[in-house]
Amino acid sequence: MLPTNKSWQNRLSNDQDELAVEFVESLSLDRRLYKYDIAGSIAHAEMLTEQHLVSRDEFRQIKQALTEIAEEIDAGKFRFDKKYEDIHMAIEAALIKKTGQAGKKLHTGRSRNDQVALDMRLWLRDRLEIMVELIKGVQKALLKLAGSKQGQIVMPGYTHMQRAQPVLAGGYLLAYVEMLQRDRERFNDCFKRVNVCPLGSGALAGSSLPLDRSRVAELLGFASVTRNSMDSVSDRDYVVEYVFTTAMTGMHLSRLAEDWIIYASQEFSFIRIDDAYCTGSSMMPQKRNPDMLELIRGRCGSLYGNLTALLTMMKGLPMTYNRDMQEDKKQLFDAADMLEACLQMAEAIVSHTKFNAEKIGRDLEDGFLDATSLAEYLVIKGVPFRQAHQITGSLVGECEKQGRTLAEVPLQELQKLCDKIDKDVYKSLSANNVVAGYATDGAGGKKQLQQQLEFWKECL
Ligand code: ARG
Repeated sequence: MLPTNKSWQNRLSNDQDELAVEFVESLSLDRRLYKYDIAGSIAHAEMLTEQHLVSRDEFRQIKQALTEIAEEIDAGKFRFDKKYEDIHMAIEAALIKKTGQAGKKLHTGRSRNDQVALDMRLWLRDRLEIMVELIKGVQKALLKLAGSKQGQIVMPGYTHMQRAQPVLAGGYLLAYVEMLQRDRERFNDCFKRVNVCPLGSGALAGSSLPLDRSRVAELLGFASVTRNSMDSVSDRDYVVEYVFTTAMTGMHLSRLAEDWIIYASQEFSFIRIDDAYCTGSSMMPQKRNPDMLELIRGRCGSLYGNLTALLTMMKGLPMTYNRDMQEDKKQLFDAADMLEACLQMAEAIVSHTKFNAEKIGRDLEDGFLDATSLAEYLVIKGVPFRQAHQITGSLVGECEKQGRTLAEVPLQELQKLCDKIDKDVYKSLSANNVVAGYATDGAGGKKQLQQQLEFWKECL
């Protein structure tokens, strides 16, 4: 048994099982909140001073000591002792050691329950901003590639992983910019619910002391204060939302990674991932493996795990705070660190990837990418679409047997299938012509790519 000197030691017997000390602590994780914990404490102390619950001189001592503690932690000189359980108690203990009486007043009207909620909200505000910038970085890298000469490459678009219709590489890349834009919007939206100050909610029911909650919120730059003290200490929705958004963004990166793992294979050879983002094999000397992309794909699984852990941890919790909630930090920090790293990696990979125009072009007429275009040509000539679909479908069947492309079929043969076909049909055939003929907004053609490029250049 170890002697303790926690703040509630008068209620509990003096000894604690060493196992329990290890088991209950969160200091090893939440020590990274120290800056926010200290900023929150200084604001709280300032408000207490204005409310005449702490003297000017005590406030000066508290602020001075907390600033010193922050510097000690910055410099790696602070001793984190697990017997203090968490960052809140570790800092408070150090403060009391430095200031005595004054420090003992800091926790007036406050509980670790509203304190931890405050710290996480402050931490999240900063990390949300970083996250949004990192996503923007990937978007910009994709945009740059899409706007380069490589964006003009005509490539096969796929559905069901089967060749479908031709598209410009630029349009393909900008599809990912769209996904990431929605992620940014989700993170920005999450910010609104994060940026509300829970301090003053106390343990669960607020306080009988004349605390000025709005003043604390103002000092810390929050947009408003939470409305309900019980909700304030039992709410982790903002954490779940944030982690959900990391999972969603991770899923988008994972899809890009999966595409590019396939595109970088010998069989496709659509792109070349830079050597810097590949690894070799310990046995097979020829290997260039896209491990960074595989890890982006793999880590997405961990992000889902973080989200599932959080949702499951919360689902059975009675009002209000329960210690289960301490486990949120592991999931939150993991998710933030992991996605930030994946985004940085993704930006670097995208910035160094080259499309193989020669290889893509060589096989472009395989797979009848122009079949839909032929059917639409027939529609223009007055053939009902279902009939046009049928005519084209049987022609494709024939051509497949004969090893011909649609553009290689002579006009008379085409006219035997449908007398409405004219020699202008060839303008609708072959992948390049198809791309040139796309008419609808947002389609895979040049004009549409140009419009999107202009939009994104303005927006990013
Ligand atoms: N370390 C705790 C957590 O992260 C702080 C709140 C503890 N509150 C309590 N009443 N035990 O959730």
